[in-house]
Amino acid sequence: MIIAPSLLASNYARFAHEVERVTAAKADWLHLDIMDGHFVPNLSFGPALVKTLRPLTRLFFDVHLMCDQPEILLEPFRAAGADLITVHVELGDRVLPLLWRIKSLGAKVGLAINPPTSIAHVQPFLDKIDLLLIMTVNPGFGGQPFIHETVPKMQQAAAWRRERGLKYRIEVDGGINNDTAAECAQAGADTFVAGTALFGQRQLAKAVAKMRRRVTEAAAGVGTR
Ligand code: DX5
Ligand code: ZN
Repeated sequence: MIIAPSLLASNYARFAHEVERVTAAKADWLHLDIMDGHFVPNLSFGPALVKTLRPLTRLFFDVHLMCDQPEILLEPFRAAGADLITVHVELGDRVLPLLWRIKSLGAKVGLAINPPTSIAHVQPFLDKIDLLLIMTVNPGFGGQPFIHETVPKMQQAAAWRRERGLKYRIEVDGGINNDTAAECAQAGADTFVAGTALFGQRQLAKAVAKMRRRVTEAAAGVGTR
């Protein structure tokens, strides 16, 4: 089970300190939300920040591109230290070349799907990805409530993974706290992005350990995984 705090919810005045805090808290990955003001109605960080933070930690950098033109951003983020780069399936017929390009850069390959989008849209790509990111809120902002109607997508993604003998991780992102993370783990998720629910905690190590314990217990209840 992977716990990935989302830097979007951190204290922007102290990015370096916040990265050291999640590293000391024994999180597994750092989730980096990249917003371009077009694909989503918000702006966040660029490659320069990722490059600055890279030497501060050995955490795996999970870069989530919510961008209309990821084609121009793959190399800069890979060069900045991204370990995994995720693009959205809503980009349509540009998706396949993007997945191949990410792979050719030596990064792990992620594919994201928004709540309104049917899970059927990711099926053609499942054997080409390392991670399927199921958005559990509409992308663009932290602190939004979890959309429970997204849970059947996790069950479907887990069933396809089992039936086809595939190895992609199932990541959930948006409104994730201990209760919604447990609900997702029972449905087949194994990678949990949390911004507000983790960075909002003074005792981050305790919060990460508690979330890890909850999802591990919840998943153990699912004999079918
Ligand atoms: C939203 C981002 C999420 C967000 C999660 O578009 O993709 O990663 O930061 O934040 P919380 O956990 O606060 O919903
Ligand atoms: Zn995200």
